Amino acid sequence: MKNFRSDNEAPVHPEIMDALIKTNQGFSESYGYDELSELLTAQFQQLFGCWCEVLPLTTGTAANGIATALTTPPYGAIYCHPNSHLNVDECGAPEFFSGGAKLLPVAGKNGKIDISMLNQQLQNSGHHGEHESLPAAISITQCTEAGTVYSLAELQAIKKIANRYGLAVHMDGARFANALVTLGVDAGSATWQSGIDLLSFGATKNGAMMAEALVIFNPNYNKQIKRLRKRSGHLISKMRFIHCQLLAYLKNDLWLNMARHANAQAQLFTTSVKDSVSLLYPVEANEVFCRLPINQIEYLEQQGFLFHRWPGEKDVIRLVFSFATDEADTQQLIQAITAI
Ligand SMILES: Cc1ncc(COP(=O)(O)O)c(C=O)c1O
Repeated sequence: MKNFRSDNEAPVHPEIMDALIKTNQGFSESYGYDELSELLTAQFQQLFGCWCEVLPLTTGTAANGIATALTTPPYGAIYCHPNSHLNVDECGAPEFFSGGAKLLPVAGKNGKIDISMLNQQLQNSGHHGEHESLPAAISITQCTEAGTVYSLAELQAIKKIANRYGLAVHMDGARFANALVTLGVDAGSATWQSGIDLLSFGATKNGAMMAEALVIFNPNYNKQIKRLRKRSGHLISKMRFIHCQLLAYLKNDLWLNMARHANAQAQLFTTSVKDSVSLLYPVEANEVFCRLPINQIEYLEQQGFLFHRWPGEKDVIRLVFSFATDEADTQQLIQAITAI
């Protein structure tokens, strides 16, 4: 397929499709009260090694929006990276879901919030009293929009600041599986044990059809989540088809195996082309941002390779590897780049 444009363009994994077909037998209670629901919560609690509330959804934007509504009042502020999905790719959904909360961007290298800058921004807050929005939450993306991964030490440093100012920490884990594989730790260590209060748990990019979940670790934020889901239009009547996907996703580590493959393809590509391209960011998961001469980019396009040219940067392309990336396609891309 030579498609390196997005993991959203990858197909549904056959085991997840099988689960959908098997679930498509007869009748089952609607609106999340089917027999798979409790099983799913038990699976997530086992995976994370703690109590957690799981809210299945169909988009990551809804997960992020509901997380914002839970942590941040209309008069509150949420700190996030300028390039975060929350800030640039959700058409104001976090503001909409929260009833008007303000997003305050905190810049930083490699797609990560700069921790000292975050601290400084918070130190400087409060001087305008009720004239300014009340700091309420920090949202980080794991993997980041630059394809990098926050280390556990970085997550803990963010939590320390959050604790100092009484803020919630939300993780946008649209590519959480890819990050977890890179970190090489268990799911609990990468989240609540490192201070994450709420996680947008993505599965769609990594082999599901339209299955995401908001996972709440901190019971303080477990308030009326089902009503918030309903109001957002995400209370799916035939919810069993989301439940079964998430169960199949977790079964026998399918999700981690898929992410491992995607990350390995990105690494294979990076190590093979390191003398031929310049990388914008360290490659730590399944996305690679490369700077290439424009004529080389055009050549790759003529050869039928699909990828995004990055907005605003004519000579930058983004390559995304997925569970469905065929190694033969990665090798063809490597050959095309190294032969130029
Ligand atoms: C970092 C990040 N967060 C969240 C999402 C979820 O988006 P969607 O609402 O399209 O499922 C995406 C998808 O591109 C993403 O890249």
